[in-house]
Amino acid sequence: MFWSLLIIISLCTLIWFCLKWLKLRMYWAERGVKHLPVYPFLGSLTFLMRYNPAIWMRNVYERFDSPYVGMWVFFRPAVIINDPEMARNILIKDAAVFKDRFLSSGPSDPIGHLNLFSVKDPLWSFLRRRLTAVFTAAKLRGVFRIMQQKSKELVQRIGIEMKKNQRVNLRMMFTDFTTDVIAASAFGVACDATLTGESPLRSVTKEIMEFSVFRGLSWVSIFFYPELVDIFGFTSLPKSVTEYFKKIFRMIVAERGGYDVEIKENRDLFDALIKLKQDCLKENKDISEDTLVAQAMVFLQGGFDTTGSIFAYCVYELAFHPEIQNKLYQELIEAEEKVGHADFDMNSLTELKYLDCVINETLRKYQPMGWLDRMTSKDYKLDDRLTISAGTPVYINVIGIHYDPKFYPEPERFNPDRFLLTNEKNTCITTFVPFGEGPRSCIGRRFAMMNLRNALATIFLAYEARALPNTPKPSEAKIETRNLFLTPGEPLLVEFVPRL
Ligand code: HEM
Repeated sequence: MFWSLLIIISLCTLIWFCLKWLKLRMYWAERGVKHLPVYPFLGSLTFLMRYNPAIWMRNVYERFDSPYVGMWVFFRPAVIINDPEMARNILIKDAAVFKDRFLSSGPSDPIGHLNLFSVKDPLWSFLRRRLTAVFTAAKLRGVFRIMQQKSKELVQRIGIEMKKNQRVNLRMMFTDFTTDVIAASAFGVACDATLTGESPLRSVTKEIMEFSVFRGLSWVSIFFYPELVDIFGFTSLPKSVTEYFKKIFRMIVAERGGYDVEIKENRDLFDALIKLKQDCLKENKDISEDTLVAQAMVFLQGGFDTTGSIFAYCVYELAFHPEIQNKLYQELIEAEEKVGHADFDMNSLTELKYLDCVINETLRKYQPMGWLDRMTSKDYKLDDRLTISAGTPVYINVIGIHYDPKFYPEPERFNPDRFLLTNEKNTCITTFVPFGEGPRSCIGRRFAMMNLRNALATIFLAYEARALPNTPKPSEAKIETRNLFLTPGEPLLVEFVPRL
């Protein structure tokens, strides 16, 4: 009797799963939407751990001549947006419907769950308003001095590396540098990683760069299956890193007199966070220490490797394109003469048009995120044929758009000049979105651009970068397959020769 019952229940469950699966498989076909194939468990995410998602996204863009493509993130239907106009509606015009990202961590990982990047509205709106104050033009002028000092150390570091190894590992050196810049400008902590490769915060960012199977699974779950985060105890960062970082956080707060000393002017991120706590206490609201630590962590995490990779790819491309490097050098020496051989200030840097073209072209080719993640808060009409239901993940295919020959002829070619011309086909602002767009775009954009401009100008006035024999061309260099972000998959090595 027991066994017959068990067999009947198992058969019924199997039939139920098969029917569910058949219905799920037909989801996009029933709606007449071009779509990727779906497989049990992974859905359409067959690239995981095999290709970098940015490569996969480009592939989807090239395969489908369609403004949007249906897919499945594990068992959940989702849409990839290939059309810049549609992307503009989602990111800007209808941003109120798309305030949240789909990705999310769980309450068991408060640092991953509560930070500005993953937190959901209304906490996101509240935090974003408060943290935007850290990046005003006046605040940037304050941190610009730090960027200048650290860029000079970068020039020294290149000299040291060249003497020791006759080559420089770009990503390692630049992530030493970007860690220092964020440490000093956001946390008020002076560090020495640019010169030495070591510092307490650098040990945190080095650990973030390490890969393990558990971390890989954690990130996949956070990005594509947030419900599993709490079940399996996944975390966005290793527990040892968050514990160590919390210690550093408490130390910095204590050095500033704790939460009781009134903050009169917001000098940096830490002042903004302490003031946030004080204002909440005044209004009898509480804000947890984890919420504050999460914001400090995401500035470090969001800023050091994105900017570090862009630096590395930019210098690597220039090493392989001496003609572009020379054009940049000419612009730099003319500008240096204009300022009487003094340091550039922020205004003189923003006038360097070709430098901006070089940075933009690097951001176009190597946009670190590949896609922009959003989720609808209510049913949303994409066009006359398709309405997506509330909760559907939406992925804007940024890297696909950045490589579309319609907008960027010969997209594989590193050609900064394309940003000099106003290309009539690129009238839509969402054909170039390295920092995202709309209210949820990158909060560190101006900070990152100023850091890139200043350090690249300083380096290329002092050195010429040259490609080394037996190193891969930029388009042939490996891309990290285990990372969800677009980062180099092998050391990018170049030689620096001092300018006379
Ligand atoms: C070249 C450097 C950088 C690139 C290419 C970059 C790119 C991006 C992109 C594409 C997004 C998502 C935008 C969207 O969904 O519309 C983002 C968000 C974010 N970025 Fe950046 N980023 C860079 C540097 C930085 C820096 C230096 C910081 C901090 C100091 C930072 C902090 C953040 C944060 C906190 C968010 C989440 C914003 C929110 O959801 O409100 N990023 N970034």
